[in-house]
Amino acid sequence: MAMTQSEQKELVAQTAIDTLIKKGLIFSGMKIGLGTGSTAVPAVKHLATRIKDGTVKDIKAVATSFGTQNLCEELGIPVYSMNDKAIGGHLDLAIDGADEVDPNNNVIKGGGAALLREKIVAYNSTQFVIVADSTKIVSTVGTKFPLPVEIIGEARVPVTAALNALGAKCVLREGVKKCGPVITDNCNQLLDITWEKPVDPCEMEDKINQIVGVVEVGFFTKNKPIVFTIDADCKVIER
Ligand code: 5RP
Repeated sequence: MAMTQSEQKELVAQTAIDTLIKKGLIFSGMKIGLGTGSTAVPAVKHLATRIKDGTVKDIKAVATSFGTQNLCEELGIPVYSMNDKAIGGHLDLAIDGADEVDPNNNVIKGGGAALLREKIVAYNSTQFVIVADSTKIVSTVGTKFPLPVEIIGEARVPVTAALNALGAKCVLREGVKKCGPVITDNCNQLLDITWEKPVDPCEMEDKINQIVGVVEVGFFTKNKPIVFTIDADCKVIER
């Protein structure tokens, strides 16, 4: 029987948490990065269930957004900064959702405007894990979902010109129930970009990050994740 997208998110998130516990990748006393979005939410909730039932203990979390921090506080998961001595700038594992994932596990993130802290956490974790419903699996990243780029608002015009020179069209992300641009948790703005022709995400991640005024780009290609997703038979697969 076909599953809805939100049923897929719930199943993939819960299965990933239980599988990672069984494999010893989520363990008592660990430091874990917790992602943002509607697939990360059931993952965080299921982790809280496993903490409550005593399967894992003494978990220290770093949240990737105010939203995830609030959720952790509600669920009683202790939240730290990456800079806290207890975390020491490095995590054992980070788990997060994605907007697109290609066959090489290159990822686009930032649909929820949290890409900067998501990347800080993902790139400073021994293991990165993505949980994604089947709609997120694509053959080439960046051909459908616009690539989010977090920028300094004061640099919007020169950054747009530099991105145009790389073959990108840029749209400033507008707020919902808020006039003007979206302001990220880090007080920056976002451009959503589409390409004239497909690009190499690994190369483009580096090129975009060299533009003065770019804070971070939503291509995640450097710390390759384990990806949990759903196949055509509605089974969770790992790749
Ligand atoms: C937030 C993100 C999210 O992980 C991404 O947008 C996927 O969201 P969802 O799980 O709600 O589909 O990158 O910045």
